[in-house]
Amino acid sequence: MGINTNDLVREDGGVQDRRIYWDEDIYQMELEKIFARSWLFLTHDSLIPNPGDFTTTYMGQDRVVVSRGQDGKVSAFINSCSHRGNMVCRADSGNAKNFVCSYHGWTFGGDGGLTNIPLEDEIYSKPVDRKIFSLRQARVESHRGFLFGNFDENAPSLKDYLGDMAWYFDTFMDAPGGSELLGPPMKMRIKSNWKFFVENFIGDFYHAGWTHAAAVKVIGGPLTAVLGNQAVPEGFQFAAHNGHGFNAAPGNDEVFPHIHQGETARMYEEWLRSRKPAITERLGEARARIYNAIWDGSMFPNTSFLRGIDTWKVWQPRGPHEVEVWTWTLVEKDMPDELKEGIRHTNEKTFGPAGILEGDDGENMEGNTGVNEGFVTRQQVLNTEMGLGSETTNDDYPSLVSEPPDNEAAHRNFLRMWRAMMAAKDWDEVMASRSKGA
Ligand code: FES
Ligand SMILES: [Fe+2]
Repeated sequence: MGINTNDLVREDGGVQDRRIYWDEDIYQMELEKIFARSWLFLTHDSLIPNPGDFTTTYMGQDRVVVSRGQDGKVSAFINSCSHRGNMVCRADSGNAKNFVCSYHGWTFGGDGGLTNIPLEDEIYSKPVDRKIFSLRQARVESHRGFLFGNFDENAPSLKDYLGDMAWYFDTFMDAPGGSELLGPPMKMRIKSNWKFFVENFIGDFYHAGWTHAAAVKVIGGPLTAVLGNQAVPEGFQFAAHNGHGFNAAPGNDEVFPHIHQGETARMYEEWLRSRKPAITERLGEARARIYNAIWDGSMFPNTSFLRGIDTWKVWQPRGPHEVEVWTWTLVEKDMPDELKEGIRHTNEKTFGPAGILEGDDGENMEGNTGVNEGFVTRQQVLNTEMGLGSETTNDDYPSLVSEPPDNEAAHRNFLRMWRAMMAAKDWDEVMASRSKGA
């Protein structure tokens, strides 16, 4: 293709060639080098709890079925029949022992294994090779019920891939009782490159007081204190190994920075307050301090979340200029049902397809992307130098920590991982370049 991907992002991550948000060839490389080699979010245990439960999703642009076998083990496999390619499952979710292709009836088991071919003895001269023509499986691993898939046999384990991010995730995923997602996911398409959204969530506190100024006024409540008046908020930005990162702006025993309203807000605050002692005991002071924070974060490459708004998202890429946003609601399992429903409604109103905040962001992301149709425009570069050099280490918190959270350290960290993966021929090379501080 003749593109040196190392030239597309400056070594420190602070400057980018705009073609990474526009170019079809670069996008095709991303599908190969990033999406086919990274751990990608599939679903949560709570959404496929029983044997035979399945859901369909995407890993990059590869359609996959995620299915819980009769033995309880979760498999993920390519949703494309090995006869002539048709999808073997067209439903979003359900319960099935087998997946029968609608074209000629080839049948696949709950792990994608080819189990039956109609009239095989009569019309095939020899049996079809079950090994070659079973559906390609992805590796599936779980972090506290959050299920991820990876097509690369040589990728590190999910645990190593998450690294310090797992420690941070456990602030809510390993809270007593754990966390879960409410589904099915809401879905919509936006004409944005997928990376702009990942970056917006990974560490863009900066935009919130400006982009969302009007919406935050309408929503009101404790979030206004954090985002409402263009002030620099207190808190941290974390840049974790392997490109993950997030912001956390903690409250205190009086102030809980979240976006819920009315009775949901009251129940939410009561919940956080009542849980604090157990969280401190289980997870320690440092994580208890950020337990009641408002968080925005992304896990490399395309999963994002917000705590205090309690949304969980995957930015499914649909070409270089479009993304399909899948949105679940993030709750703690032991929350009362009424509180879970209240949180679901907040998520629908703010980050669902008609969400007041999603709309604000979407307008900007479409702007970021669409302007690059201009040939001269896309020869220019973009900037993520905010807080460059401010990254430091902290005795209480692992990874690189920056203060305040108005910073682009997490963007740069994400983009350095992007650069490392695009250039590396395999995971050994990715790890070698990352350990040199790439
Ligand atoms: S394409 Fe699936 S059975 Fe023929
Ligand atoms: Fe936003």
